[in-house]
Amino acid sequence: MTKIRATITGVHGYVPADILSNADLEKMVDTNDEWIRSRTGIQERHILKGQGLASSDMGVEAARGLLEKTGTSPDEIEVVICATVTPDMLFPDTANLIAYKLGIKNAFTFDISAACSGFLFSLNTAVRYIESGAYKKVLLVGVDKMSSIVDYTDRSTCILFGDAAGAVLLEPSQDDETGVMDAILHSDGIGAEHLYQAAGGSLRPATHETVDAKQHYIYQNGRPVYKAAVMYMTGVVQEIMKKNNLHPDDVAWVVPHQANLRIIETMARMLDFPMERIMVNIQKYGNTTAATIPLCLWEWENQLKKGDKLILTAFGGGYTWGAILVKWAY
Ligand code: COA
Repeated sequence: MTKIRATITGVHGYVPADILSNADLEKMVDTNDEWIRSRTGIQERHILKGQGLASSDMGVEAARGLLEKTGTSPDEIEVVICATVTPDMLFPDTANLIAYKLGIKNAFTFDISAACSGFLFSLNTAVRYIESGAYKKVLLVGVDKMSSIVDYTDRSTCILFGDAAGAVLLEPSQDDETGVMDAILHSDGIGAEHLYQAAGGSLRPATHETVDAKQHYIYQNGRPVYKAAVMYMTGVVQEIMKKNNLHPDDVAWVVPHQANLRIIETMARMLDFPMERIMVNIQKYGNTTAATIPLCLWEWENQLKKGDKLILTAFGGGYTWGAILVKWAY
């Protein structure tokens, strides 16, 4: 029996309208445009403003656009997966809220939490559902409202993050030549001490004390995370290229998680891969966690050709990291 291959048949994104520029941040914390640009590559990020608006609302926008452009009816969707570290609430799952708001009634839903690698980990899961033969349409949303967990008095983190959503549709491939070809994913809990949100979980349920101590915000020790991101993302891209007998010339695009332009540039140098074929939009959006990779695919969609080999790669809290090889289908 020939193997069923899963393929991405559409991608769409959503970025909220409000912009938080480096100039705005200069008025909020002791920082400056030159420092932020030279250390991170970020010029501005988008922030979801408005009472009662949450990650699910951005996910709905991205997914609605995706269903429209792929001509997919909500009734056809069988599984909805949401990658996020900023769920609307700890439960119910945000995928469930997205499905409900979109009128998706025939699907089961769940969230995946793998920080900045969330989209890749979820993509791999979505692919397995298709490959099993049991499901034919899986909706995957990567979304984060990072502004809900960022401390805008902490200059070392508040400059980095933005809000956005991206969505992809996974279906069985119509041919054996295109689709999601391979995935290598890793986790190592050694990173837990360097990047976390201390309170609000079962270890430290939210109290007045945890809020006063700002433990409901992101904590990051930037330097070790930076070093690990360069080492592990570069390593896993080399691993997937070697496993699939690929040379940099064979790969049309590398699609990296957007955490820091210097991380991406250093990875490119170590891989001997030209920056012209690495998708970078961090200058406009900052780090949108689970949304970075689908946002890149969305922005570059018109430049992609059938059969293009793409390597998606991410690194994030945990630590978590990985690479997925895709042969673009359309
Ligand atoms: N503006 C001005 N100065 C700042 C600043 C800001 N926004 N943030 C930090 N600084 C200062 C620090 O206080 C420090 O000052 P000191 O030397 O007087 O102590 C100096 O700049 C250098 O700080 P450092 O943290 O070493 O900077 P860095 O070059 O490592 O850059 C990050 C900081 C956060 C941009 C970088 O470490 C990083 O990108 N880390 C990884 C991020 C990542 O990949 N995260 C996640 C996975 S998704």
